[in-house]
Amino acid sequence: MEHKREKFSSSLTVFLATLSSAVGLGNIWMFPYITGKNGGAAFIIIYLLCVTLVGLPVLISEFIIGRTTRKNVYGAISRITDKKGFKSIGIIALLATYFLMFFYTVVVGWVYSYVFKSLTGTFNGITLETANSIFYNTSTNIILPILWQFIALLTGGIILVLGVKGGIEKLTKTLMPVLVILLIICAFRSITLPGALEGIKFLINPDFLKVDISVIISALGLAFFKLSVGTGSMITYSSYYTDDNRLINTASKVAIADTVVSLLAGLAIFPAVFSFGMEPSSGPGLLFNTVPLIFSQMPGGKILCIMFFMLTAMAATMAMISLLEVVIVFFTEELKIERKKAIIINILIISILGSFAALSASSEGSLGNKLIFGMSFFNLCDFLVSNIFLPINGLLIILLIGYFVNKKCVCNQLSNNETLNNKKVIGILIFIIKYIAPVLIIIIFLKSFI
Ligand code: PHE
Repeated sequence: MEHKREKFSSSLTVFLATLSSAVGLGNIWMFPYITGKNGGAAFIIIYLLCVTLVGLPVLISEFIIGRTTRKNVYGAISRITDKKGFKSIGIIALLATYFLMFFYTVVVGWVYSYVFKSLTGTFNGITLETANSIFYNTSTNIILPILWQFIALLTGGIILVLGVKGGIEKLTKTLMPVLVILLIICAFRSITLPGALEGIKFLINPDFLKVDISVIISALGLAFFKLSVGTGSMITYSSYYTDDNRLINTASKVAIADTVVSLLAGLAIFPAVFSFGMEPSSGPGLLFNTVPLIFSQMPGGKILCIMFFMLTAMAATMAMISLLEVVIVFFTEELKIERKKAIIINILIISILGSFAALSASSEGSLGNKLIFGMSFFNLCDFLVSNIFLPINGLLIILLIGYFVNKKCVCNQLSNNETLNNKKVIGILIFIIKYIAPVLIIIIFLKSFI
C-alpha cells in the first residue's frame, strides 16, 4: 500500500520548519564562540561566503532532490539518479544522521536536565566550583545522562507521532517565534549590563589577521552543520514542501535568519560573560558552567536562566526531530514499517547506542577512557559526522545535481515550472553548483587532512 504523504501547508510553515532544523545547539554553543575566537566580523564575512558559495548551493540541491522525488533520503537519491555510485549518498546520509543523533541527543538531554535544575532552584547562589561540580555530576553520572537523553528522545518521538502537519508544523510554527522572543529578551538584558561593550567587541570586532586556512575550514564545517546539510534532514523536510514554494528564496531566508539567531545568542551570552569578568569558553563549558553562573549573579537572573535553558531546549528539540524524521520516514517508506513502530524502534536504537556516547562524553565518564582510534565514542561520532560524512555527502550531492540530474528537472524545480522569472539567478546558481562549490569543498577537505 502506498503511504499517503503529508505536506506542509504554506510557504511560511515551510520556512519555519526548515529554520527550526537549522537553529539548534550549533547556534548557541558553537557559532558565537567560534566567531569571537576567530576574528569576529572577519569570521562572519568568511562564514557568509562559505554559506553563499557552498552551504546554500548544497542546501538548494537537497531541496531539489527532496521536492522532486517526495521520498525519504534513501528513496529520494535512488529515484533521482540511476548512477549506481551515487546511491551511496543515501546510505552515508542515514549513517551521518544516526551518528549525529548519538551525540546530539546526549547534549539535548543535558539541556533538559538544566531546564529542570533551573526550575528547581539548583543554580541559586552558585559559585564557579558548584557550577563545575553540577556539570561534572550531570555528565559523569552513570544513569542520569542516559535517562535525560531518553526523555529528550521520547519527547521528540511524541511530537513525531502526531505527523508532519500535526507534529512538526504545529510545533515549529508555535515555538520558533517564542524562541526568538526569549532570545531577544536575554540579549537585551545582557547588552544592558555594565561593561557589556567588551562582549560585543569580542563578538564582532573584525580582526582579519586571525583569518587563516584553519579558520576557513571551521567556517565551512560550521556552515554545513548549521544549515543541517549532508544528513538527509533537508532532503526529508523538502519532500514535504508545497509545490509553489520558492526554493532559492526559502534557502536564502533560512541561512540569513539562522545567522541572525546565532548572533542574538552571542549577544545574550558574551556581553554578560565579560560584564562579570569571566573567560569566554566554548561548547559544554560555555553552556553548562558559564551561563548558569552569570545568570545567578544578575538581578532577575533566575527567571532569565530558566528562559535561556528553555529556549535552548526548544531549539535543540526541533533540530533533533528533523534528524529523527529522516530515519523514521526511511523505516516507513523503505522498510514498510508503520510510523508508530518506526518511532519506537528508532528511539530504542538511538538511546541504546547513544548511551555509549552519553557515558563517554566526559573524559571522566565511565566510558570516557575507552578510546577508539584515539577518541572516545562521543568524540568519534562528532569527528565522523563533522569531518567525514557531512563534507563528503555535501560534495556528492552537489556533483549529483550539477552533473548527473536532468538539467530541465533542476530548472523546473528552481523556477517552479517556469512560473518564476529567475533565469539569471538560476544561471549563476548552476555555475556555482558545477564549478565553484565542488572545487572549494575538495580544497578545504584536503587541507583539513594535511
Ligand atoms: N543545524 C543544527 C544545529 O545547529 C544541527 C543539525 C545538523 C540538525 C544536521 C539536523 C541536521 O544545531
